[in-house]
Amino acid sequence: MHSETAPVLILGSGAAGLSCALRLAEAGREVTVVCKGELASGATLWAQGGISAVLGSDDSLEAHVQDTLIAGAGLCDEAAVRYTVAHGAEVVHWLLERGVAFTRDENDPANQRLHLTREGGHSHRRIAHAADATGRAVETTLATLAASHPRIHVREHTMAVDLIVAGGTRRVVGAYLLDVKTGAVQAQPARAVVLATGGANQVYLYSSNPHGASGDGIAMAWRAGCRVANMEFMQFHPTGLYHPESRAFLISEALRGEGARLTLPDGSPFMQRFDARLELAPRDIVARAIDHEMKRLGIRHVLLDIRHRGAEFIGSHFPSIQAHCLSLGIDITQQPIPVVPIAHFTCGGVRTDLDARTDLDGLYAIGEVACTGLHGANRMASNSLLECLVFARAAALDLDHRWHSLAEASELPAWDASRVSNSDEDVVIAHNWLELRTFMWDYVGIVRTKKRLMRARHRVDLLLNEIDAFYRHYRISADFLELRNLVTVADLIVRSATLRHESRGLHYNLDYPQTETQARATVLTP
Ligand code: FAD
Ligand code: SIN
Repeated sequence: MHSETAPVLILGSGAAGLSCALRLAEAGREVTVVCKGELASGATLWAQGGISAVLGSDDSLEAHVQDTLIAGAGLCDEAAVRYTVAHGAEVVHWLLERGVAFTRDENDPANQRLHLTREGGHSHRRIAHAADATGRAVETTLATLAASHPRIHVREHTMAVDLIVAGGTRRVVGAYLLDVKTGAVQAQPARAVVLATGGANQVYLYSSNPHGASGDGIAMAWRAGCRVANMEFMQFHPTGLYHPESRAFLISEALRGEGARLTLPDGSPFMQRFDARLELAPRDIVARAIDHEMKRLGIRHVLLDIRHRGAEFIGSHFPSIQAHCLSLGIDITQQPIPVVPIAHFTCGGVRTDLDARTDLDGLYAIGEVACTGLHGANRMASNSLLECLVFARAAALDLDHRWHSLAEASELPAWDASRVSNSDEDVVIAHNWLELRTFMWDYVGIVRTKKRLMRARHRVDLLLNEIDAFYRHYRISADFLELRNLVTVADLIVRSATLRHESRGLHYNLDYPQTETQARATVLTP
């Protein structure tokens, strides 16, 4: 039963989910946080470069707004950009007050001022960071606070399967939750549900993201009846480490912010041929330039060279990256780093307003799962953690304000597993994961064509049918649900990419190289 005592159900425990949970709990509200792995997990834990905010004396809100609009290639929602930028300093201070250990400026004798680094697209130093492991500092601090808060109930290894919409209304009243360890599914009532499930970047074969970035929240919201926007804008980070023995590993843009140069294997620089901003051009431009050079020369990677900053600087600013590379035999103080572009960020997602509300009453979306309009056609570096924190704040304020009006009783339909049996062919799941991620990489990657999108369309259709039959006949597992969600997301990406008859930001189609004068969002309605 959904009752006066039902908590807000927050699906996801990254920067977005945990900061929303803490804000609500600090306001005296009961919250349940559900995550499909451990509490401290998600892309947030892996974030490197930092959080952008106007904190420097020479910087201005207007400069951050303009940089974001330029990086977004004309497609940002200006109101969302202004709203986000206006709350940047406040959310960084909120983190500082909760104990996040940001790196201080070594030139400040009082050790009070934050060290601000630079990344692509930013005209000023405005990235607050904790060396090169900002996400770890944020995530572990928030997870520790959440785990010990009496009003936050944590359910680890629990995966949301689908949202429950009250019959005959457009009101979300709970979610079906799978206990990942036992396989049991339960209908969980909620006063409201907050999607904070992160992005969908595992839809590509090579991704900087953790395994769980399978677009669950986008797929669940779509199935429940929410509009989804701008899914063709999947961001490829220019510099993933190229090494056959390494898991996908990011080489932070902050290296380029601190002067690292991109070169071809013979040591010659090439960014001057693509953009006057060189290595600090927005990500879409740098990733496409690298892709172009790799295809032109038939090379497997390019090089990123930071040696000239010296061992002491490299060791203090990039200790995690240095250690990871060293573990693979690459001493970044002595050698350039082999790098390739990798799938990194989902700019589109569940459409939301400035209160983080979706199309369904009682359903909010925050963080990478959402499309607030901030990123437009290309996200600027370090604007994602910022968006997580700002919209978690917005959702918490709105929920707190509406708390009593959200409580109403409703029967939840129980999960029906009476017509399914155990699958005897789990190989289908492993096979389809690989197939999906491979053709998305080959046909819907950095450079698209009409023909490639058509090929992807046929394959997505086959997988949609196969997955649907599997879902109706067999008991579900976490792996299967992630595959089901990834196929739904692939469908949304291919549909959106096919609808856009121009090239803009991250979406580059050789058959439509021109950019239209008027920018239009791609909004899909279920
Ligand atoms: P996440 O942190 O991804 O958390 C998602 C949560 O949802 C997890 O707890 C997961 O268990 C849970 N979940 C998912 N599906 C379900 C389900 N079905 N049921 C229950 N729980 C579920 N951005 C920046 O701004 N600055 C950076 O420096 C930066 N560096 C990055 C470096 C790397 C390597 C990567 C991968 C990303 C980086 N980004 C950076 C992007 C940024 O980290 C992410 O966009 C951001 O952390 C997303 O936070 P989130 O809270 O939305 O989701
Ligand atoms: C990085 O450190 O390069 C990642 C920054 C981001 O994705 O914003």
